[in-house]
Parts: sequence; structure tokens; C-alpha cells
Amino acid sequence: MEEKKYKILMVCLGNICRSPAAEGVMQRLVDERGVAHLFEIDSAGTYGGHSGQLPDQRMRVHARRRGYELTHRARRITGYDMGDFDMIVAMDDANRADLVRLARTPEEVQKIVMIGDYITQNPHYDYVPDPYYEGSEGFELALDLLEDACVQLLNEILAKLMEQNN
Ligand code: 4NP
Repeated sequence: MEEKKYKILMVCLGNICRSPAAEGVMQRLVDERGVAHLFEIDSAGTYGGHSGQLPDQRMRVHARRRGYELTHRARRITGYDMGDFDMIVAMDDANRADLVRLARTPEEVQKIVMIGDYITQNPHYDYVPDPYYEGSEGFELALDLLEDACVQLLNEILAKLMEQNN
């Protein structure tokens, strides 16, 4: 019998900078660890103004330098997503507030986690700041924070899944 996949949705505002990068970072991590078959990883935005677009050109360039090809097409999160995904990861407090509004049950609210809770290497950030109006440093910072946080987040999820299977 095929195991049910653990579904992770990365969420930011526009779904063209932070969350598609988070999706790419997490996808590579699960690929590298040989656990990709256990996961489905996607991303969405709370704002739909960029729907259908590839990630921002600047984010694609910075990500490509680290070996990530970001090919996600932006989409706006739906109420269905709140039920469908197992974990919904907000990049900042505003994203979280929007997600809480979208949630229809206490169980759905409980699925929402803050990426900032998994940042260990930069004491100045407990969220991933929006690089959209920033220069190159903003995109590099977002990728640094995401690479750190996704390792910690995946470790926690894998530990939880192993516990459930024992
Ligand atoms: P993201 O960045 O939320 O990381 O995708 C943004 C992209 C677009 C806009 C804001 C943030 N915007 O206002 O169009």
C-alpha cells in the first residue's frame, strides 16, 4: 500500500519570492535525504496578483547560483488548501494572520507554523523578510534564512513521522 504523503505548503504574500524559494530549498533537502517519496511540497501566496507567474527573476537568479531551479507558477492559497495540507508554513506575521483568517477549524489553525521558529543561525530574524523591494542582499538573506530553517523544520517533521510509525 502506498504511504500517504506528508504535504507541506510554503506561504508568503506574492508567491513569487520567498515561498517558491522555500519550496525549492525543501524539495532539494528531501531529495538529498532520499525521502522525497514521503513528501509533497508546494507553495502559494495570500495575495493573488502574481498568479500564473514564475518566481521573480531576481529570486530565480540568486537561487540558481545555489543550484535551485525555481519553476513554480504563482497561485493564491484557497480554503481547500487549508484542509488539504498537513503543514502550512508562514514566512512572516502578516502571512500568519491572513492564514488564521482563512482557516475554517481549530485543526486548520494548528497546521500553521512560523518559518522563523526554525531559524537558528541568525539571531536578528524570527521571520523571513520580504525581499521584493530590496536589493541583492535581501534575496541572499532570504535564501540564507530558508536554507537554515528548512533543515531544522525537516528534522522535526522526520522525527515526528518516525515517532508515529513506531
Ligand atoms: P513574496 O514577495 O511575498 O516573497 O512573494 C512579494 C512579491 C510581490 C509583492 C509583495 C511581496 N507585491 O506586492 O506585489
